[in-house]
Amino acid sequence: MPKFTLTDLVALPNTLVKMPRLGFGVYQSPPETCIQSVLTALKAGYRHIDTAQYYTNEREVGEAVRRSGIPREEIFVTTKIIRTTENPDRAYETAVKSVEKIGLGYVDLFLIHTPGRGKGARKVTWGALERLVEEGKARSIGVSNYGIGHIEEMKGYAKIWPPHVNQIELHPWCQQREITTYCRTNNIAIQAYCPLVRNYKAKDPTLLALADKYERTTAQILIRYCLQKEWVPLPKSDNEGRIYENANIFGFEIEDGDMGVLDGLDQGARGAVVMAVINR
Ligand SMILES: NC(=O)c1ccc[n+]([C@@H]2O[C@H](COP(=O)([O-])OP(=O)(O)OC[C@H]3O[C@@H](n4cnc5c(N)ncnc54)[C@H](OP(=O)(O)O)[C@@H]3O)[C@@H](O)[C@H]2O)c1
Repeated sequence: MPKFTLTDLVALPNTLVKMPRLGFGVYQSPPETCIQSVLTALKAGYRHIDTAQYYTNEREVGEAVRRSGIPREEIFVTTKIIRTTENPDRAYETAVKSVEKIGLGYVDLFLIHTPGRGKGARKVTWGALERLVEEGKARSIGVSNYGIGHIEEMKGYAKIWPPHVNQIELHPWCQQREITTYCRTNNIAIQAYCPLVRNYKAKDPTLLALADKYERTTAQILIRYCLQKEWVPLPKSDNEGRIYENANIFGFEIEDGDMGVLDGLDQGARGAVVMAVINR
């Protein structure tokens, strides 16, 4: 039996919160398309949606969840604050605005999108997210694109440490081994963004050979690779067929030797399509 199922949950550290092992990304899903894409994803069995202030579709994600008729507590919704700031009121207000736009009462996970504007702003913005947890507006909080230095620095100011999640770019060409090892050691759940490398590697011969061997698509191999690395992948698609295809990854297992072959494709920071973290 292959490991993992579509309904698997990952427990977040020091909380009662459980996060579905497969997520659905909505970056570059235009508002007019996003509702339908999320509805399709929910129909296909995804229960974890990843939006952000930056994506300008928080409202549509909330709308789709409401329209789906699926009980709120069965769906895990993440958003992210884009601008860190040293102004506590501004940080808190912009975060609350996101929760209100989504309109589901609370979010399951609120992330700081990037380490951005220096330590002072990171500290104040984290304080605002901690306040959301205290007030029940966010069930868990975390960071994105944070390196080891950023997370270590938090020990000096955080009431909630470790952050529950670090969302970073991860796929065979950008494995970020230092930060993933650090997160694992410190019990921080790892989410993988750009798990499909935006389809830029669809013609890569190694990937094509594995797709051929397992009789799967290159996208399915890449998402399955994330699962077997114990990363939570967030594939994005606005296409019905591809949304289903990307969730159909639980019926096979990549052999250890082939995981090693994919591991061998790592190019470090050079392999990133968005960014690799800065660890120190
Ligand atoms: N925290 C951050 O800084 C950060 C940065 C980037 C992304 N993210 C999150 O991670 C999610 C995923 O990353 P991403 O959207 O940048 O890239 P991705 O999921 O690696 O790739 C999405 C692209 O691949 C295409 N695609 C999807 N399924 C496919 C398939 N089965 N076959 C061929 N092509 C396929 C999509 O086109 P179609 O839509 O036409 O299918 C889209 O162009 C985002 O949506 C967002 O939620 C976070």
